[in-house]
Amino acid sequence: MKKIQISPSILGVKKDCLSLVCNQLIKAQSDLIHFDVMDGVFVNNKSFVDDEISLVSSLVSHKIIDVHLMCKDLKYYIPQYANEKVKYISIHYEAVDNLSLIYYSDIIRSLNIHPGIVINPETDVIEIIPLLNCFDLVLVMSVHPGLGGQVFIESSLDKIKFLYDYRKNNNLKFVIEVDGGINAETSKKCIESGTDILVSGSYIIKSDDYKKQIESLKQYERDLY
Ligand code: DX5
Ligand code: ZN
Repeated sequence: MKKIQISPSILGVKKDCLSLVCNQLIKAQSDLIHFDVMDGVFVNNKSFVDDEISLVSSLVSHKIIDVHLMCKDLKYYIPQYANEKVKYISIHYEAVDNLSLIYYSDIIRSLNIHPGIVINPETDVIEIIPLLNCFDLVLVMSVHPGLGGQVFIESSLDKIKFLYDYRKNNNLKFVIEVDGGINAETSKKCIESGTDILVSGSYIIKSDDYKKQIESLKQYERDLY
């Protein structure tokens, strides 16, 4: 039986606190660690471009890192973030054309990492249908990328439901992840709509009890598929 997974986002964590926070997340039985890379081009902000990936990778014992590339220059960024502790590398549908997305999904897979595709709030989920068989994960952005601590966009739930039904009806195997504004209330709606992985930044990291927060996000969990 598979369960809902939680991927805490460490976006807001300063470099000198990364090792403490990651160790605590592992202790709190975090399923994944969500690692937000911002290039200052695809989004205005910059994050984790100074080799923090090596530090975080050295702190974890298994394939647990969930890399979210908010980046335009995928040729440069994908190899920088590929290592044996990285389980997923997700790239934005809006960053490059469809042929390049397929090309990069193959590159990521050849590095023994699961490729994921991300859609922004203004992107219609219908647009990624032709790409779904190339990716192992679909990440639905429920806030505009570039910043933690924003409010959940409710229309994301329709995208999650659509993906859940489409996967079932077409015998596909990708997992559905949602990112932005996830707390105890929005997690319930996302789980009911068909999400498999919940990314959550401020709700977990700003608390002094990671385990309690992670458990509260899982309280409505159901079997996957
Ligand atoms: C936003 C990032 C998110 C963010 C989530 O661009 O992709 O992963 O850190 O943070 P919260 O949970 O605070 O919305
Ligand atoms: Zn993210």
